[in-house]
Amino acid sequence: MKIVMYDFKTSADERGALSAVEGGKDIPFEIKRVYYIYSTKPEVRRGCHAHKSLKQVLVCMKGSCKILLDDGKERQEIRMDMPGKGLFIGEMVWREMYDFSPDCVLVVLASDHYDENDYIRDHVDFIKAAGHSRDHSP
Ligand code: TYD
Repeated sequence: MKIVMYDFKTSADERGALSAVEGGKDIPFEIKRVYYIYSTKPEVRRGCHAHKSLKQVLVCMKGSCKILLDDGKERQEIRMDMPGKGLFIGEMVWREMYDFSPDCVLVVLASDHYDENDYIRDHVDFIKAAGHSRDHSP
């Protein structure tokens, strides 16, 4: 599976660091929604779903966590701990988030508004649907 990780423009000087993300430029969609996950208990597994058409970029703003990506053929684990980097997750990719550090803040930039009908929450259903889907790169 091809993992797409964006390196956002980061300016660092004696004051600290600033990273910038522009929708449609630095990532391949206009940002319609931002949500963030924090205060997550260490033993918790979040996500555990795929989206039929939503695209997302995940940025670990603080702390660390792990993301499992599964495109129906391959599974890959990615450790997230760099606020200047963004992990692209296209449509029809199963994702699970876990091993959150107590201070982890995971920000998600999404291509569309929240829509429960866009979710596939059952892994067996996902595997069936993924068998009929195409390439999910940006
Ligand atoms: P949930 O889907 O369980 O989160 P995760 O995929 O990280 O495990 O979402 C938790 C709750 O938040 C659920 O009631 C739906 C709601 N929610 C929104 O209202 N808007 C959003 O953009 C998202 C992602 C979730």
